Amino acid sequence: KEISIIGVPADFGQSRRGVDMGPSAIRYAGVVERIEALGHIVMDEGDIPVDMDAPREVSGTNLKNLKAVTEGNRKLAEKVSETVRGGRFPLVLGGDHSIAIGTLAGLNEHYSNLGVIWYDAHTDLNTAETSPSGNIHGMPLAVAMGLGHGDLTSIGSGPKVKPENIVVIGARSIDPGERELVKEKGIRVYTMHEIDRDGMTAIMQDAIRYLEDRGVDGVHLSLDLDGLDPLYTPGVGTPVQGGLSYRESHLAMEMLHSVGRITSAEFVEVNPILDERNKTADVAVGLMGSLFGETLI
Ligand code: ARG
Ligand code: MN
Ligand code: MN
Ligand code: MN
Repeated sequence: KEISIIGVPADFGQSRRGVDMGPSAIRYAGVVERIEALGHIVMDEGDIPVDMDAPREVSGTNLKNLKAVTEGNRKLAEKVSETVRGGRFPLVLGGDHSIAIGTLAGLNEHYSNLGVIWYDAHTDLNTAETSPSGNIHGMPLAVAMGLGHGDLTSIGSGPKVKPENIVVIGARSIDPGERELVKEKGIRVYTMHEIDRDGMTAIMQDAIRYLEDRGVDGVHLSLDLDGLDPLYTPGVGTPVQGGLSYRESHLAMEMLHSVGRITSAEFVEVNPILDERNKTADVAVGLMGSLFGETLI
């Protein structure tokens, strides 16, 4: 594979500073070397230019830093689209999860029936009306379905993903409005309950078969490091206990690799200021290793 690494040093989608340093932390943890060692051609495209001095607004609308989030995502969408056009696999490094808005907008230029695997403690299905925080990182999956503020949904054209093409894995913190949307749209959510009950192997098999049955023409993996338990990934802004283990997460990545259907990926919410000796970035890079074909023997 030819893989393009795209850094997005942005933190405007939530309120804790430091997640803009995620791309640096992940590079420092050796992402390029790790993936190159598997025989892939890796091009580090550097970072999307993000204006970190953009004013931080909290008033007016219930969407914090809407302008800055919108601008960053427009640039990211263009970069992701250009990468796919060039036949390369986009590997996006966040930044907070609001950057998925731009990633999915860029992918939408090239796929007509994209599948999305959302590996996360949260469903990120809020809109301005349902959000308890006003943080846009809690909204990207709704935006990708075409729901939410027009400035965000109008990045790229039309809805980016159909509700029936989404699977969420690892959810354990779901707001009331999100729960309603899950039911209304019939979104496939594997909560921690199902994963505890059936085991990660069965869940991943089911998720993969579900997307195949939808006839998807590509599958994007959006992995929020808070999907794992904070024992393993403490460097995240919104940790939730009771999460996926290190081993379960590697197994999931290994299974995705062996099926060979992932066409793009992003790893988000790594915040080195909140971390312990770059542990979260190290785990992220390890998971990327498994996703791109690392085996134990
Ligand atoms: N549901 C909460 C909110 O809307 C938390 C979202 C956390 N999202 C994330 N990408 N970490 O504010
Ligand atoms: Mn499309
Ligand atoms: Mn999350
Ligand atoms: Mn998230």
